[in-house]
Amino acid sequence: MSSARFAPAGRLRGVLRPPPDKSVSHRAAILAAMAEGESEIEGYLDAADTRATLRAIEALGAAVEAREGRLRIRGVGLRGPRSAALDVGNAGTLLRILPGWLAGQGGGRWTLDGDASIRRRPVDRIVEPLTLMGGAVSARDGSLPPLAVEGRPLTGIKYRMPVASAQVKSCLLLAGLLAAGRTEVVEPAPTRDHTERMLRSLGVAVGVRGASAAGVAGGPRTIAVEPADALGAARFWVPGDISSAAFFIVAAAIVPGSEVRVRGVGLNPTRVGLLGILTRMGAGLEVAEERDAPGGEVVGELVSRPGALRGTRVTAPEVPLAIDELPLVALAACFAEGETVVSGAGELRHKESDRIAAIAEGLGGLGADVEAREDGFAVRGSGGLRGGRLDARGDHRMAMLGAIAGLASREGVEVEGFEAVEVSYPGFAADLERLAAR
Ligand code: S3P
Repeated sequence: MSSARFAPAGRLRGVLRPPPDKSVSHRAAILAAMAEGESEIEGYLDAADTRATLRAIEALGAAVEAREGRLRIRGVGLRGPRSAALDVGNAGTLLRILPGWLAGQGGGRWTLDGDASIRRRPVDRIVEPLTLMGGAVSARDGSLPPLAVEGRPLTGIKYRMPVASAQVKSCLLLAGLLAAGRTEVVEPAPTRDHTERMLRSLGVAVGVRGASAAGVAGGPRTIAVEPADALGAARFWVPGDISSAAFFIVAAAIVPGSEVRVRGVGLNPTRVGLLGILTRMGAGLEVAEERDAPGGEVVGELVSRPGALRGTRVTAPEVPLAIDELPLVALAACFAEGETVVSGAGELRHKESDRIAAIAEGLGGLGADVEAREDGFAVRGSGGLRGGRLDARGDHRMAMLGAIAGLASREGVEVEGFEAVEVSYPGFAADLERLAAR
């Protein structure tokens, strides 16, 4: 395990082109493998998680070739994946989405396993609905990887997700393409909708109903698919990852004198919860949507500058829209006046680490006034952070959080296990070095 030290920065300035979106990259590779013929992906994320997805689809029989900065993937077709033992590495999205495709195959057997962190990530959330559809899917102790899948004929169901999860929704939508009859997934609040957008771009009819059908206003919505015969070859373009850019957006908001311009970043309304939260806190954000990207994603540019921050409340309906950025909300809260409380975010306990514990112990160790709660946390702004040591716990987002905390702290931060950044943002340290240059 390597450690890295992040000294206080004078300010951050410059232009950031964030790495390609991890969620969209995983989905693009999986859908290309499911399609007939040769699909093309422009701007696929080159990081540990998304490399695991390419290895997995190759093991299923897809051919992957990098040519002229693009990936060309020859798919195996909707009913063509061959049996394999799959190593998902650290990739929870791969672990939870891919079985949806495999469960409905007429025959075939697969196992999905990964690293020590993946072996702690619950999969009963997909085992239960896939079993209700007629699937033969089993997990260690009923809830943990390794996951074993035997292909079986599936029947569409209406499934109400107990927690709002885009991974579970996506898994069931893929299963629905191979099931008999309609498959409906009810989400208690809107979650990221990349799968729906990408399926539509492939010509699949995806129905959406409910209070939040047209936006992210909160309230449940129902997403429906019908069985498909085949998916045609696709062209995907991957926008910049707002979840990676988020580290620099928050850094610029808390380090005096900063101005960071983020270009080519995905601004899908189901991903930009952090921007609303920071704006409410008083950060100086300007956001401009530019265009609809191929695949139906929204892309644009934004500028982040410091502001006089005040505490805020984040509750359940907003949580899925900012799920991976909530550790950064905790960091910003250390620099805000008053208290910030995040609730309805028990899901944070099931990420690459228990992020509620990681936030409380990690930021607490740097001098923050932070309290872990069962389903979230409370932070009382204390005029900044002293600094110290933070253990990334094998979690890429905690490693980057520690680095940004260091820049904004009085004494700097030593991040243990910094190499976890390879999972989603291998160029993070180089981007930080460039933007923080004096
Ligand atoms: C993801 C969905 C979220 C998120 C994860 C990526 C996705 O998880 O935390 O990093 O790509 O669908 P859940 O849907 O399980 O909340």
